[in-house]
Amino acid sequence: MNIILLGPPGAGKGTQAARLVDHYKMRQLSTGDMLRAAVKAGTPVGLQAKAVMERGELVSDEIVSALIDAELEAMPPEQGAIFDGYPRTKPQAASLEQILARHGRKLDHVIELEVNEDALVDRITGRYTCANCGTGYHDRYHQPKVAGVCDKCGSTEFKRRPDDNEETVRMRMQEYRAKTAPILPVYEERGIVSRVDGMASIGDVADALDAILK
Ligand code: AP5
Repeated sequence: MNIILLGPPGAGKGTQAARLVDHYKMRQLSTGDMLRAAVKAGTPVGLQAKAVMERGELVSDEIVSALIDAELEAMPPEQGAIFDGYPRTKPQAASLEQILARHGRKLDHVIELEVNEDALVDRITGRYTCANCGTGYHDRYHQPKVAGVCDKCGSTEFKRRPDDNEETVRMRMQEYRAKTAPILPVYEERGIVSRVDGMASIGDVADALDAILK
């Protein structure tokens, strides 16, 4: 199964993708995570992407499509893919069709997490991750069971993303409305779009996804 998780910043794409990885043994392909890794490693892609990401704008279509192509190339053909944060523009959606065809895959579901944008600013500015294993937390909605200790790996080091401030988040939302939402009609014509209330609890959103994927 190959699925796209769509939704504005903070909609819960990464949170739900991580659960689908655990539950269905699918692979999460997050272009945001790949770009952050490239920035951290100081690769040529990272050097190009850093300032663009800090402004909350979109990195070039060619760069992100090449990242996705390379990841799929390295995956076992039978393992399902969760496209998290990709495609984000019409050219990326067109590239994904070609990439999937090249790898003998087809798209089964496009799931949009519907959310209230003002509430998302609160979600995003409160989130942080374990600096060691990347598990996600939130100041108010999802704290570690033992304060200051990662549930998954026991690390006591945490970090926040540089683009998680209100001004950049508003720009990222604008980019979503202007460039990403317009890719949905093509998938709607194919009858593969489902919508889930992303303002529900994390568990309820997970249940809604299970109902779609079963
Ligand atoms: P990316 O990393 O993809 O960021 P994003 O789309 O802005 O999405 P986020 O990761 O911010 O949110 P999310 O939906 O995953 O929410 P999360 O689960 O973390 O992209 C970053 C940048 O990289 C872009 O701005 C761009 O520059 C570049 N980029 C990436 N892909 C690109 C592409 N394809 N093309 C061009 N440029 C690209 O949840 C947020 C918080 O809310 C967490 O703390 C979580 O615990 C909490 N939460 C989640 N669900 C719930 C819930 N139901 N109830 C309460 N709290 C919840």
